[in-house]
Amino acid sequence: MKEDKFEKIIKLAEKRGFVMKSYEIYGGLKGFYDFGPLGVLLKNKIKQLWLKDILNMPNIYLIETPIIGPRILYEASGHIENFYDRLVECKKCHNRFREDQLLKGEYGEIKIKDNKALCPLCQGELTEARNFNLMFKTYIGPVEELTAEGYLRPETAQGIFINFKNILSSMRAKLPFGIAQIGKSFRNEITPKNFVFRVREFEQMEIEFFVKPEENEKLFGFWVEKRFNWYLNFLGIKKENLIKHIQTKDELAHYAKAAIDIYYKFPFGEDEIEGIANRTDYDLKRHMEYSKEDLSYFDEEKKEKIIPYVIEPSAGVERILLALLCDVYDEDEVISEKGKLEKRIVMRFKPWLAPIQAAVFPLLSNRTNLLNKAKEVFGHLKNNFVIIYDENGSIGRRYRRQDEIGTPYCITIDFQTLEDETVTVRDRDTTNQERIRIEELNDYLKEKFKI
Ligand code: GAP
Repeated sequence: MKEDKFEKIIKLAEKRGFVMKSYEIYGGLKGFYDFGPLGVLLKNKIKQLWLKDILNMPNIYLIETPIIGPRILYEASGHIENFYDRLVECKKCHNRFREDQLLKGEYGEIKIKDNKALCPLCQGELTEARNFNLMFKTYIGPVEELTAEGYLRPETAQGIFINFKNILSSMRAKLPFGIAQIGKSFRNEITPKNFVFRVREFEQMEIEFFVKPEENEKLFGFWVEKRFNWYLNFLGIKKENLIKHIQTKDELAHYAKAAIDIYYKFPFGEDEIEGIANRTDYDLKRHMEYSKEDLSYFDEEKKEKIIPYVIEPSAGVERILLALLCDVYDEDEVISEKGKLEKRIVMRFKPWLAPIQAAVFPLLSNRTNLLNKAKEVFGHLKNNFVIIYDENGSIGRRYRRQDEIGTPYCITIDFQTLEDETVTVRDRDTTNQERIRIEELNDYLKEKFKI
């Protein structure tokens, strides 16, 4: 049943232009997705709301750094040595699996022969596990040698750490302060899966929050709460679908002393959408060691140099988008325009999050005076809102199309409009309609989209 809901969400996302498989006309490419017009609008909203929440703190600085980094950067960060999954391959069908997922039963039931696990797909013999580094490698410039090796970043974080000193001096920053970045990251995942949940190219929203070492635990707690509340208050995600997961020692990344993940209860199971890690002074120390630059901070109170600790909230835009799609997807029954009970799919985005904010319809599509008036109303609103105009099909069908993409308000121009300059505004969730004067529409809608 739950899987079924996930299938329906994927189908809707593909059909209505939220998310599509990349390179589909060439057979697709595993782990890559395109975002259609509604998907891009929604991703942008997620990013804007993230920025809105953090940039109203006076001590957060937003930067942008390159996607490709030189080998030395990832030697220093520890990714070349530690950023791998354990991979096993079937000697018969040559499918590859992550050893940890295989043992957890994520590929189905595992049969054992002579004390060894067999391939879950063909029961063939599996190879010994080997380390598989998840970074995509390339060469910078025309010569393919070790010193020209470059990597697509697996996290945006490293671009931030190496700018610590620049921000200290250019912004005259004082601890505690954060450097934030939104951008693409890449991981050559062994088994991309669950639609856009685990992909090979994705966007991260990360903050490296530099703190005095003695404040690391207090500020770790602060960020866990702040980020958890963002999902509730800014995205409107249902509290019962969110979990705080404390990472065990085995789960911790090579740089972390502690981490708490925010999990969402997806139809395929609960899993991480964001991690908040206490990275200690690991990164700054490693970059000091490899670059020979002084990345310390002068503590005015103690009159000594210190190496700040780092608290890192790190979220993935695609996973948040998927969680949102799952959270707002609903099916119910409404009374149709003909007075009959009708099933509908409705995406119950909070009004400020809906990709399309309102739709404008003429009641009938064959009356020039209604069409002209509807276009006039559309023109009156289009500079202030993301709205669409639709004159195709019955009014009921047009409502259903907007419900399916979560448009919170549908504005209909009918015969009364021609007499008294009022329109009906239909609420997506209640389906109730209100009559509003055209000259008041802008203010009426603005009020509705306040967060
Ligand atoms: N800088 C820390 C870091 O990258 P992470 O837990 O590996 O930590 C942070 O990743 C977030 O990035 C995850 O919570 C998830 O939302 C997103 N993410 C990581 N790998 C991903 C993948 N393969 N596909 C989609 N999102 C991913």
